[in-house]
Amino acid sequence: MLKVLVVGGGGREHTLVWKLAQSPKVGEIYAAPGNAGTALIGCNLSIAASDIGALAEAAELYGIDLVVVGPEAPLAAGIVDSLQSRGIPVFGPTQAAAQIESSKVFAKELMQDYAIPCPQGVVFSSYRAARDYVHRHPPPLVIKADGLAAGKGVTVARSTEEALKALSEAMEGRVFGDAGNRVVIEECLAGREASLLAFTDGRTVVPMVPACDYKTAFDGDQGPNTGGMGGYSPPEFLSPELISDITSTILEPTVKAMEREGKPYKGVLYAGLMLGDHGPRVLEFNARFGDPESQVTLPRLKSDLVDIILATINGSLDQMRIEWSSQACVGVVMASAGYPGAYQTGFPISGLDELDDDILIFHAGTKLGQGQIYTDGGRVLTVVASGETLAQARERVYLNLPRIHFEGCHYRRDIAARAAQTR
Ligand code: AMP
Ligand code: GLY
Repeated sequence: MLKVLVVGGGGREHTLVWKLAQSPKVGEIYAAPGNAGTALIGCNLSIAASDIGALAEAAELYGIDLVVVGPEAPLAAGIVDSLQSRGIPVFGPTQAAAQIESSKVFAKELMQDYAIPCPQGVVFSSYRAARDYVHRHPPPLVIKADGLAAGKGVTVARSTEEALKALSEAMEGRVFGDAGNRVVIEECLAGREASLLAFTDGRTVVPMVPACDYKTAFDGDQGPNTGGMGGYSPPEFLSPELISDITSTILEPTVKAMEREGKPYKGVLYAGLMLGDHGPRVLEFNARFGDPESQVTLPRLKSDLVDIILATINGSLDQMRIEWSSQACVGVVMASAGYPGAYQTGFPISGLDELDDDILIFHAGTKLGQGQIYTDGGRVLTVVASGETLAQARERVYLNLPRIHFEGCHYRRDIAARAAQTR
């Protein structure tokens, strides 16, 4: 029986712990730092996801057989290299390969060098040259800080003033620190966005079921960007033909390109795509599972996730048959008042035991205390329902959501609304 450690403490990591714990191969499961949801399934270790040294020591101390990394920061900081050097099996790309997410400049140059479809873009390390470029190109323009910026490094600028402000904040004001030393300025594409993630062992690429996420805080795509306010799977506008097209024109060439660059890529490759008349284009790559995409896709996975992960690590993904359910999933994030700005925590959460039996609750910012679950972050829970159709799944999630309560909780009412109408 395996001892598995999941690194991270959000909704994605609770979903991973939930899914991995279903495997008959798993004996014990740990999360670091985890949340109240992971504590109800396994054992939380109070180690930050960024504390690679302490995580490696804990993995040795507890005799962990497999480490699954959730967030991007430890991948970018080299957790995989560090655990591998100690002989601990770990799922995720190396630091060099994780640059596909941690550097927008690296990703853009890779796509340009290998003709992987993406928006046209130019890289700048000089503020003055970037500013001149903005003056010479009409808006809209997209300004992207090179490094990790917790989802805040991208500005879709509708006016020249907005573009200049974004540039100045990133390059002069250094609001993202070194992450803003370089920027990519891109053409702004129109269309519909979807996330297609794949498992890859560096050779074989197996796409997962696709998903859509909602980034802004309020209904109608209004308000500030968040870590994600909900999602659904499958997107009604992504046909199986389009998925195989994206696999052969984007995902597979990217994995081959990484191999040629001497940075073989293993783990989950996440393509954030814009679909439109121009065909699928890559807006961003991520080096990990999505949040909240995981909450609406992993419940659809029928196969054993441990088998898939081991095949990915061992290079035998071509031997795996990965099966998904045809059910649709809709997930809605319940957030604290004020999120994504300042918010308070420590409010009791009620109603979690009043939900219909098949509703899934994935915790993010929650903690356990004296038999009660309390809020402990901006995004608190993802509530997920499934159904034969997106319309059914959506109806069921919105029927159950009002039964859960904590002070100031808010959630979007329009998750999968358009999709449910078109099915
Ligand atoms: P990224 O972190 O690169 O995915 O960007 C965050 C969000 O900005 C995306 O989900 C899109 O909504 C938007 N975005 C990024 N790049 C572009 C682009 N070239 N054209 C239009 N929208 C974009
Ligand atoms: N859902 C966006 C992300 O995981 O980056």
